[in-house]
Amino acid sequence: RGVMAVDLKSLVRSIPDYPKPGIIFRDITSLIEDSAGFRQACQQLADSHSSKGITKVAGIEARGFIFGAGVAIALGVGFVPVRKAGKLPGETIGQNYALEYGVDTIEIHANAVNGDDNVLLIDDLIATGGTAVAAISLLRRTGATVSHAGFVIDLPDINGAEKVRALGVSVEALIA
Ligand code: PRP
Ligand code: HPA
Repeated sequence: RGVMAVDLKSLVRSIPDYPKPGIIFRDITSLIEDSAGFRQACQQLADSHSSKGITKVAGIEARGFIFGAGVAIALGVGFVPVRKAGKLPGETIGQNYALEYGVDTIEIHANAVNGDDNVLLIDDLIATGGTAVAAISLLRRTGATVSHAGFVIDLPDINGAEKVRALGVSVEALIA
């Protein structure tokens, strides 16, 4: 099967009024249930970063784990889970980020990456960019290089990708 054999956009389901009235939720469960679509999404994100010297893939809980794991396997590198606070058993470092109402915290194990690493950040979707910006800041506090981020979906009207690029990080999204 050649590259771009699957139309990924057609595999993303749009659910109106979730989680609130007026929001159209872009749902990736329909994409990952399709074996060819799931494989292609991971492979495309891996292929475009295969010559970048990536040493680790970091994926953001929860949906970023699904694609991040596939990308890590395809690149032949380890996977680092960026978790919501309180889930990791070892010594952690954390980063707060703003939600629409309130604040949340993401964490990594303090020794998960270090100054020798070149980390590719993966998530399913970028909206405001707040989550990705927090993850990049957190990973960089270890001394790791974070120069590349990949997403299955970008919601370009919200301009989150610009915030990530402003940190000197390249952004690839498979679907807009
Ligand atoms: C969603 C999505 C991204 C983030 C994008 O995750 O998977 O991680 O929001 O939004 P932002 O660009 O505005 O920060 P969510 O927090 O809903 O968690 P989940 O993956 O556990 O459902
Ligand atoms: N779909 C999935 N996750 C999201 C969305 C969306 O439309 N917006 C913000 N997070």
